[in-house]
Formats: sequence, C-alpha cells, structure tokens
Amino acid sequence: MKRLAVFVSGSGSNLQALIDACGAGALAAEIALVVSNRKAAYGLERAQLASIPTHYAPLKPYSDAGRSRAEYEAGLLAALTPFSPDLLVLAGWMHIFGAPFLGQFPCRVINLHPALPGVLAGKDSLRETYDAAQRGEPLETGCMVHYVVPEVDAGEVIAVERVPVAPGEALDDFAARMHAAEHRLIVRAVDQWLAER
Ligand code: GRF
Repeated sequence: MKRLAVFVSGSGSNLQALIDACGAGALAAEIALVVSNRKAAYGLERAQLASIPTHYAPLKPYSDAGRSRAEYEAGLLAALTPFSPDLLVLAGWMHIFGAPFLGQFPCRVINLHPALPGVLAGKDSLRETYDAAQRGEPLETGCMVHYVVPEVDAGEVIAVERVPVAPGEALDDFAARMHAAEHRLIVRAVDQWLAER
C-alpha cells in the first residue's frame, strides 16, 4: 500500500475526498500524515476525525527568528521522514516549496490547481478565470493536477477536468461546481499516479 502525505492550508475538502476514497477502497493507498501550515485549517480536524496523524508546520517561528524558508523546509522534511511517504499531495497548500525540498521527492509531489494548464497560475485563479469568462474572453476553465516544480503551477500535467462557466452563473455556483470537479479529479490523479508505479 503506497503512503500519502497530504498538505492542506484550509478547509481540506479535497483531503476529505482522498480520505473517503481510501476508506472505500477506491484508492490503493493510505494517508500516512496530514500537514498544515495553518493551525485553524479544518483539514487538521478532518484528519483527526479519520485517525490520521497530523503535523502543524507554521513558517512564522522561522521567519520571526530570522531563519530562511530553506531551513523551514528542512525542518518539514525531517518531520516527514519517519512517515516514509511515497507521494506528497498538495491539496490547497499555500506555500511554495523550493528546489532543495522538491529535489528530495522527484515526481513524487503533485498539486491541485483550479485552472487549466497554461491558463492562469497563482492563488486567485478561480476568481480570475471566472472574471475573464464574464468579460467574454475565450478562455477555458477547469482544474488540473500536475507535478510540482519550482515554477508555480507549471509542472507536467497528470489529469484535467474542464468546468465551463455557465451563462449568467454566479461566482459561488461556479466555485461549488469547480470544487466538486476537484474532488473527483484529485482522486483520479492519485489513482493514475499509483497505477503508473
Ligand atoms: C481548492 O480550490 C484548490 O484548488 C485550491 O485551494 C482549494 C482548497 O480547497 N488551491 P480545500 O481546502 O481542499 O477545501
């Protein structure tokens, strides 16, 4: 059974999709650890409810002490090592890893992103794609899971799902459909990664 470490910073609804898929036997994997860099992330509670070990990893104590992001990531690596994860799944994780950390896990870090390849990068993509569609720009909307490389949201794509904005649709409704698509996609992408190994 392959071991997943899932990284969250917020609600963790995508983590929940993975917990449910592992629990139902739809994924031949177990979640060995959930990491959050935000203490209030509901994802931590979801993990605890599913009896999955958690690790809270704030950057602030490092920055307050004048220590670098690389030192923070080295600390995180040390915390991960005992859990021997095969795959790191970034599911709403708001921290950009540097090359030395990523170099420890070649082709073993994947990220969920609410835009299609090459369309929009960064944390406001969902709103920006919605706004662009409202302006009538010919841009396709959807979500993807891709390998993580040092450049943001740019690594090789593993899986995509298209989520077109419906005419007259409110942002909240579009976001809800996008999240539902993400929940399917993240499970499919992990399943695909597992099947390739
Ligand atoms: C998702 O929309 C993901 O694409 C984005 O952050 C959100 C995380 O949602 N990067 P959740 O915490 O899994 O509910």
